Amino acid sequence: MRIPGLIDPHVHMREPGGAHKEDWASGTAAALAGGFTQVLAMPNTDPPVVDRATLMGAEARAAQSARCDYALYLGAGADNLSDTAALADEVAGLKLYLDQTYGPLRLDALSLWRAHFDAWPKARPLVAHAEGRTLAAAILMAALVDRPLHLAHVATREEILLVRAAKERGFKITCEVTPHHLFLTQNDLEGGWGEVRPRLGTQADVAALWANLDVIDCFATDHAPHTAAEKASPEPPPGFPGLETALPLLLTAVHEGRLTMADLLDRMDENIRRIFRVPTQPETWVEVDLEAEHTLTAQGLFSKAGWTPFEGWQVRGAVQKVVLRGETVYEDGQVLAQPGFGQRIRAQ
Ligand code: NCD
Ligand code: ZN
Ligand code: ZN
Repeated sequence: MRIPGLIDPHVHMREPGGAHKEDWASGTAAALAGGFTQVLAMPNTDPPVVDRATLMGAEARAAQSARCDYALYLGAGADNLSDTAALADEVAGLKLYLDQTYGPLRLDALSLWRAHFDAWPKARPLVAHAEGRTLAAAILMAALVDRPLHLAHVATREEILLVRAAKERGFKITCEVTPHHLFLTQNDLEGGWGEVRPRLGTQADVAALWANLDVIDCFATDHAPHTAAEKASPEPPPGFPGLETALPLLLTAVHEGRLTMADLLDRMDENIRRIFRVPTQPETWVEVDLEAEHTLTAQGLFSKAGWTPFEGWQVRGAVQKVVLRGETVYEDGQVLAQPGFGQRIRAQ
């Protein structure tokens, strides 16, 4: 079956500063192998992307090494309020880290939230990492300034019910959910391997996400690679790789009747294009074998993470071939696109 090139609105490419975890060449190879032809990359690199200089630095690496199309997010900080709006058309969006997670970008002061919500153009994506009570506060702030807000990785029953209530009120809220929050619970992984933000939920949380699929706008991998050695260390960083396992897992759910193919494509293509104003790519598609049964394993994955939280999972559905702008960029397990083939996505 032929489907459109998919978009992942939430990935971490780790360059600059963390190239041993992932770099643009390895991360975008993983994207293509997973059926993604466009990725939107988060700003919690080292240094983080917060102004023109750091954006140009990260951008140069992406331009040189990306194998699929990409855009970079700008991170909201304490000192860059006056710099962000001028960059709005050059980036994927503005990312607000409102809770503690990996990297230094955390905004604590409510006054700073408010200032960033006001300063960022309403027509450009504003994305928040906000969990639990923070999510409630972020929704209120968006409603008060009457602007769209996209909520990253909604993970719990209480969060998805808040999103539903906000949408029913007509607030301009959209959200994404990750495959790991749809398929894993807090009992599935040991110690550091299970560390991720937001944390994995209970069976009731997972059930609530599936039961509220209609208010989930996007699936996003939150591909957050850390090496196996780092995950096994005394202070394991939070995050899972996800680009190469997302589509097989979701196609398996389609096979099992948990969602339809149309539901899947709305959330991995259509809705993402609308929310993030990402243009379609000419002559671009993915060929998937819906019947191919295989076992997910870290072996042979293109990500430098070198492990997957879905090790040993039986799935049905595989990417056979990816064509991007008329070029065959992935076929039969081989990534054919060279570093530098990827182009920066121009905002619409
Ligand atoms: C992400 C990372 O490692 O960059 N980690 C995670 O647990 N999701 C950061 C984030 O998306 O919050
Ligand atoms: Zn996050
Ligand atoms: Zn993330």
